[in-house]
Amino acid sequence: MKASFWFEKWQARDIAFHEGKVNKLLEKHIDTLKLRDGSHVFVPLCGKTKDIAWLLHKGYKVTGAELSEEAVKELFEELHVEPLVDNFLGFKVYKSLNLTVYVGDYFNLTTAHVHSVDAVYDRAAFIALPASMLRNYSRKLMALSKTAPQLLVGYRYDQSLVPGPPFSIDEITIGKYYRPDYQLTCLDSVDSGEKIKGIAPAFEDCWLLCPNDS
Ligand SMILES: C[S@@+](CC[C@H](N)C(=O)[O-])C[C@H]1O[C@@H](n2cnc3c(N)ncnc32)[C@H](O)[C@@H]1O
Repeated sequence: MKASFWFEKWQARDIAFHEGKVNKLLEKHIDTLKLRDGSHVFVPLCGKTKDIAWLLHKGYKVTGAELSEEAVKELFEELHVEPLVDNFLGFKVYKSLNLTVYVGDYFNLTTAHVHSVDAVYDRAAFIALPASMLRNYSRKLMALSKTAPQLLVGYRYDQSLVPGPPFSIDEITIGKYYRPDYQLTCLDSVDSGEKIKGIAPAFEDCWLLCPNDS
């Protein structure tokens, strides 16, 4: 997926991926990450997800990365927070007390931008990318987070019915990119109650990825 694909989606407000409410599986399973007050959660490809407000409310620090500046502006507007806007090592950065969002290409982030991560929350990021990008995506995520534990939320459906994104994922797909660094546990699998692109019924799955050396 090229950047233009996502810019066009945001421009056309074709953002069905935006839930508009906190993800139920995040609420239900956050404790499996065993976070402490003030822990730092990295949210790659964050859009303007309401999950960020919820994570902040829980007392965590959050770092996000998002291509669309429009999305990031709306994220802060909806938080009712005036961000400090700055430039740092090739990225525009929107910041408030406990939230930092890098505007630009996730694949250009380094540990100078994102570091000291206690956990990763990936909802609709892994599944937003075609298979050809997943090796780079997962390697980058492990490098930035030093293989911190992850909650990964995605859809599982009959991919032959509709093309992605979102792409359907299962244990084999996740394992291909995250084993042997992580142990994978499927915490939940619920009927999403919606059809992908109005056609394919889907399950929403929540995976816990625990680093193998923990
Ligand atoms: C499917 S949406 C999911 C957004 C968010 N995680 C959520 O749950 O609502 C994927 C998002 O990733 C952003 N994105 C795609 N490729 C990106 C990249 N290379 N770097 C940063 N953001 C990217 C898109 O603009 C889009 O907002």
